Amino acid sequence: MSSTEPLPPVDLGPAAQYPEGEAFRVAAETTGWDDDIAVVHAEDGGFYALDDTCSHEAVSLSDGYVEEDTLECPMHASAFCLRTGVPETLPALTPVKTHQISLDGGRLILHPGAPRPAEK
Ligand code: FES
Repeated sequence: MSSTEPLPPVDLGPAAQYPEGEAFRVAAETTGWDDDIAVVHAEDGGFYALDDTCSHEAVSLSDGYVEEDTLECPMHASAFCLRTGVPETLPALTPVKTHQISLDGGRLILHPGAPRPAEK
């Protein structure tokens, strides 16, 4: 269960410190959000943020694998879309929340609770 109200932005430091193709966990204690948040630097160079707890069982998605535009759960391999949080493969059925993430002067800024804007 997650909060519904956006929380103050969190400065995650220089974006250059996050290697492409990897996921990182930002602790709930840091953001004030109800769940840890998985931050992904995808292979396309973009940054994405999703609730860290898999919607199937209590497993940390940031321990999983970045595969193209998905984050794959390390337990049963459901692949969650980085843009929407929707699981594209079973066994998970429920989306995980997305969070807005932006760059400001080369620094990575996480906006906990603000959903990722829809892309055109
Ligand atoms: S715990 Fe994530 S798919 Fe089962």
